[in-house]
Amino acid sequence: MNETVVEGYSNVKILGTGIDIIEIKRIKKVIAGNKGFLRRVFTAREITYCEGKANKYQHYAVRFAAKEAILKALGSKSIALIDISIRNLDNGKPEAELSGKRKKLEKNITVSLSHCKEYAVAQAIYFK
Ligand SMILES: CC(C)(COP(=O)(O)OP(=O)(O)OC[C@H]1O[C@@H](n2cnc3c(N)ncnc32)[C@H](O)[C@@H]1OP(=O)(O)O)[C@@H](O)C(=O)NCCC(=O)NCCS
Repeated sequence: MNETVVEGYSNVKILGTGIDIIEIKRIKKVIAGNKGFLRRVFTAREITYCEGKANKYQHYAVRFAAKEAILKALGSKSIALIDISIRNLDNGKPEAELSGKRKKLEKNITVSLSHCKEYAVAQAIYFK
């Protein structure tokens, strides 16, 4: 496989990419209709982050999309959604965090998130 340069990175090899799009109203409906869903899918820090936002479902939705995108990028590695989380640096840039037995992979994942009124989209790249 040829080496590929990712913007902001040098001499990295892309091992996998993933993308996911989600309707905001879908995640809103699931959260409203299933009390256990939030705690099963989102970490306490993610919940605190989203609840502090005016349009919280956009932030929940994009995190859900990010988890799915990361699963796609990593391929068949089995990871629970709750073991994948997104944290934001001081400038807002999102970073992936993994917990559990796959934690060491988090340094090899980069994500980009975007959301608007109706949709949220996330892209993940798994590199080394
Ligand atoms: C960072 C920036 C690109 C976000 O763009 P946006 O259109 O407001 O927001 P989007 O819906 O596309 O994306 C939001 C997500 O971007 C991510 N994000 C925020 N800051 C980021 C940064 N510095 N780098 C990368 N990603 C960032 C976050 O994950 C955020 O979602 P979250 O809060 O749920 O985690 C934008 O705020 C910015 O700083 N642009 C620079 C250019 C500029 O200043 N333009 C204004 C004049 S036109």
